[in-house]
Amino acid sequence: MDGKSRNARDARIRAIRDDDLDDVLGIINAAAKAYRGVIPPDRWRDPYMRADELVSERADGVRFSGCEVGGRLVGVMGIQSRADVDLVRHAYVLPESQGSGIGSLLLRHLGQACQRSILIGTWRAAEWAIRFYEAKGFIRVSDEDAAALLRTYWTVPDEQIAASVVLASCPLAPDFLEKIIAAAAATSNRPASSEP
Ligand SMILES: CC(C)(COP(=O)(O)OP(=O)(O)OC[C@H]1O[C@@H](n2cnc3c(N)ncnc32)[C@H](O)[C@@H]1OP(=O)(O)O)[C@@H](O)C(=O)NCCC(=O)NCCS
Repeated sequence: MDGKSRNARDARIRAIRDDDLDDVLGIINAAAKAYRGVIPPDRWRDPYMRADELVSERADGVRFSGCEVGGRLVGVMGIQSRADVDLVRHAYVLPESQGSGIGSLLLRHLGQACQRSILIGTWRAAEWAIRFYEAKGFIRVSDEDAAALLRTYWTVPDEQIAASVVLASCPLAPDFLEKIIAAAAATSNRPASSEP
């Protein structure tokens, strides 16, 4: 049995705990190396996420789930409630474990816990990630709608908006965008941070 088959078979999803944070950072920063040379150079950093940013994301309501194989965390994905939608945040699988179903398991797990529309923001240039979400049934919204959604739910400079896309778990009805932007404006939550 090769490593990838074993990943799919032995995977276990569980909530991320405080004592997992070093492992979570290791996964995010190893997987995010895929962005190097792909996303705008001024947005690339190594490490991509610092420990204090991860702590701040969790304090801001991002709830992470992890996928363990053989007792080792190999993937993480977060969900954040914002007004009347849920955002998938920070989806990362260790490079050596990619392509074996871990991301799919995590996305399905988060989706099962959500009753509302799910939105995902990612880099326009991360074509593999867009393909992954589209294969899971997510629909890429128009650039115009994406810009409005990014301004509403993420804190992103204009140049990052142009470099980002948004995918939704269902087609956006004509009045959906207006409604959720109004709902978001009515809450006092701080917008999600800039990174997808
Ligand atoms: C995007 C990412 C989270 C997907 O997780 P994953 O565990 O690799 O995804 P899966 O193995 O569940 O693959 C899902 C689909 O994409 C395909 N796929 C994804 N990555 C692949 C790879 N490296 N090799 C082969 N196929 C791959 C699979 O064939 C699968 O298709 P299927 O369900 O029709 O069989 C992961 O690849 C990753 O961490 N990438 C780098 C960081 C990133 O781009 N994160 C997204 C931020 S929004």
